Amino acid sequence: RKATMTVDKQYQIAPVDDRIYGSFIEHLGRAVYGGIYEPGHPTADERGFRQDVMELVRKLDVPIVRYPGGNFVSGYDWEDGVGPVDRRPRKLDLAWKSVETNEVGTNEFMEWCRAVGTEAMMAVNLGTRGIDAARHLVEYCNHPEGTYWSDLRVSHGYKEPHNIKTWCLGNEMDGPWQIGHKTAEEYGRIACEAAKVMKWVDPDIELVACGSSNSQMPTFPEWEATVLDHTYEYVDYLSLHTYYGNRSGDTANYLAKSLDMDAFIRSVIATCDYVKAKKRSKKTIHLSFDEWNVWYHSNQQDQAIEPWSVAPPLLEDRYTFEDALLVGCMLTTLLKHADRVKIACLAQLVNVIAPIMTENGGPAWRQTIFYPYMHASLYGRGTALRPVVNSPVYDSEDFTDVPYLESAAVYDEEREELTIFAVNRDLEGSLLLECDARSFDAYGLTEHIVLEHDDVKAVNTAKEEPVKPHNRGVSEVNDGILTAHLPKLSWNVIRLK
Ligand code: AHR
Repeated sequence: RKATMTVDKQYQIAPVDDRIYGSFIEHLGRAVYGGIYEPGHPTADERGFRQDVMELVRKLDVPIVRYPGGNFVSGYDWEDGVGPVDRRPRKLDLAWKSVETNEVGTNEFMEWCRAVGTEAMMAVNLGTRGIDAARHLVEYCNHPEGTYWSDLRVSHGYKEPHNIKTWCLGNEMDGPWQIGHKTAEEYGRIACEAAKVMKWVDPDIELVACGSSNSQMPTFPEWEATVLDHTYEYVDYLSLHTYYGNRSGDTANYLAKSLDMDAFIRSVIATCDYVKAKKRSKKTIHLSFDEWNVWYHSNQQDQAIEPWSVAPPLLEDRYTFEDALLVGCMLTTLLKHADRVKIACLAQLVNVIAPIMTENGGPAWRQTIFYPYMHASLYGRGTALRPVVNSPVYDSEDFTDVPYLESAAVYDEEREELTIFAVNRDLEGSLLLECDARSFDAYGLTEHIVLEHDDVKAVNTAKEEPVKPHNRGVSEVNDGILTAHLPKLSWNVIRLK
């Protein structure tokens, strides 16, 4: 099969906000304890942070990390996680039926962020708490000094404010599983009032209101419209979450699920703009896709985990090669909406539905999905282009006209680089891509990276990494025309300079 594409440096979608390559660390399972933090580990630094994990996080160049939840945040008292560690309470975490020791809290997480070179995206509890806890946390984190909460931070050893810029107003408040689940009216009101005072404490912060937990929620998209009705003037972003799985073992259908993500994004944009019109507002609400990934492998094994232990191995999905392909398709989908999606978080970062896994006391290693995420984060910065694409299509169980070629193009003007990300969804054969890139006429091929494997169910382990990229992709550029061979079922990164 053959697909064609035209990219032109003049046909631009928008600058890519680096934060679309964000991720997420929740107090859940072994994400924190045994993940980023394990004091007894041979690589632990003096603060207890695993340096082997930090090294892998740095390789991903993660620009922002959402924290501390997730469902966890809706029952979290942030005050439990600051001050002398030996006086911090052990509490039940009802979201994940675990015990939270509070050894790691806001300040430790901020130290970790600084150590790995990322920013925090802090969530406040709008489940069991409210306006006061939220404004106090902003004051604790961001106010310089001279008030009760800022001086408390100073007394805890953090003279400089953390200056956290991006804040989430709760988490998945539309979900009955959420501690303190609310109706759209109830959430809209509390989010509006919390947002107002949080911005009074620090006018430089940006706020994310909760959209629906996924597009299948019965209240979607009415939830979005009602929440924005209340919060429009106070918030900057609306959140989206989605997870996919291949329970029926139908790879062709599974790889098409990024089309569902695309439709979800379009519907949320439409809803935001509907409220904009209704309010005669000049302001545009942007999207924060702050939870997205594959999540289904661990569902069953999690049922067998006994409640009330510290850091149980929850949500430890082992990702297959086909999962990496879908993650690649989801990344290109985000890029295609660079004009509206300004933040996105691969959920999550370590051990919990994560690209990075650890063994307690043992090594840290890369799952299959590590690679497309890393490639997009490293080479997908600059300006998202709007290519004209012509691809043969197929029909699957849930989708029609699925293009075999899933792609996105990013132009990095500063580095003078063009990168084409391309997934060949074809299970049967390779796809020939002919790309007219004549507006980049002096550019030649830097490399063609490929992630491919014969077995869609292949996984990496702590010992072996059968699913890893090579850069022996077959491509050539002649007079501005790129010809690339995309092997059957493959993730491709074609870099021109
Ligand atoms: O990322 C795992 C969980 O998925 C989060 O805690 C929750 O927000 C979502 O349902």
